[in-house]
Amino acid sequence: NSFILCACLSETPVMVDKITEQPTGSPARAYRTHAGRLIGPSSAGAAKRRDGSPPSLNAVCVRWFRRTLLHWYDRHRRDLPWRGSGDPYHVLVSEAMLQQTQVGTVIGYFSRFIEALATVAALAAAEEKQVLRLWQGLGYYRRARHLHAAAKMIIHDFDGRVPDSRQQLLELPGVGRYSAGAIASIAFGKAESAVDGNVARVLARFALIDEPIDDPAVRRLLWSLADQLVSRMRPGDFNQALMELGALVCTPASPNCPLCPLRTSCRAAATGRPGQLPIRVPRRAPVEVTHHVVAVHHNDRYLFEQRPDNGLWPSMWQLPTAEHDAAKKSNAWLADRLGLRIGRRRQIDTFTHQTTHRTITFVLWQAAVTADRLHRGVGTWRCLDAIDDLPLANPQRRAVKLLRSRS
Ligand code: ADE
Repeated sequence: NSFILCACLSETPVMVDKITEQPTGSPARAYRTHAGRLIGPSSAGAAKRRDGSPPSLNAVCVRWFRRTLLHWYDRHRRDLPWRGSGDPYHVLVSEAMLQQTQVGTVIGYFSRFIEALATVAALAAAEEKQVLRLWQGLGYYRRARHLHAAAKMIIHDFDGRVPDSRQQLLELPGVGRYSAGAIASIAFGKAESAVDGNVARVLARFALIDEPIDDPAVRRLLWSLADQLVSRMRPGDFNQALMELGALVCTPASPNCPLCPLRTSCRAAATGRPGQLPIRVPRRAPVEVTHHVVAVHHNDRYLFEQRPDNGLWPSMWQLPTAEHDAAKKSNAWLADRLGLRIGRRRQIDTFTHQTTHRTITFVLWQAAVTADRLHRGVGTWRCLDAIDDLPLANPQRRAVKLLRSRS
């Protein structure tokens, strides 16, 4: 075994058993990473790699990696509600929910979703409002609308069955390279790889890739490593094992290397500073904006309206909200957009909400209507305790909660 481990880390030509020619790929950049060391350049290999083809992993290393990771997974995998049923619809729903969201948050949402909409046909036939309501609080609501559209497409174009090939899965709305690989491997046992944030981190550390993992050339390298590593016998378990390792052990800030099954060959662990990888292209600082929520009421009924189906919080419902800083203009805005006149506004509270690109200060106002000439079809008047059917994003739920506590 020690020979194998040495071989995994060696830089001798023996590590390169095959260099695969790939017509695409960006030159040199990917191969300035230390992944080449893990893989072990040969002079012939190095020449090919400068040419842009991904490095090829040694077969012995690959077998060791698969065996070691799967052995660990069999002992440490979490019992999650979408694991084990084998139902492709469950995998489709769980993968939509797990994009950008942690497993712990998804568990409850997944169970409620499947209980309410048990089959792909039930989802396809559901009203959008119900789907968004089941998604309420999970964020990134476009995922819910895509999943809904995907279910309709599965019914109409795929005979009601979730497609089993990566290529067909990619035709579904909201399904990109990662989701297609995850669904094909987990639901159908196809030898497809799936590189999400957790997997990218594990691989970047294992291979000591010290260039930004969001750089397109580095992303190609990560996919190439994952493609070669994925188990041909248990691809779904292998992909989930990498995700699980990233979530439980190889965590972003403080990886728990002593518990890691791959530590003996991990090049980042050998440096003693695995927490410093991966590197990312620095994000632009979030923009600071102010949104004015104007809780317009007529006696104990408040006006709720639906947001447009694009942009932030698509198709979700809200108290009328002006997304500009000029609080003084809000009355005119309400009159224009909703055909309402309101009395003196009272400020109820302010709070901030962080999204990926914005720091939003919400200013919550309350005002009674003085003239009610609501434009047709712009909203619905509701008591605050009768809004269970309206899907609201988190800041709007917070606004409603504040209103309830003050009235
Ligand atoms: N993240 C995305 N898909 C996952 C899965 N199937 N198991 C655990 N984490 C995941």
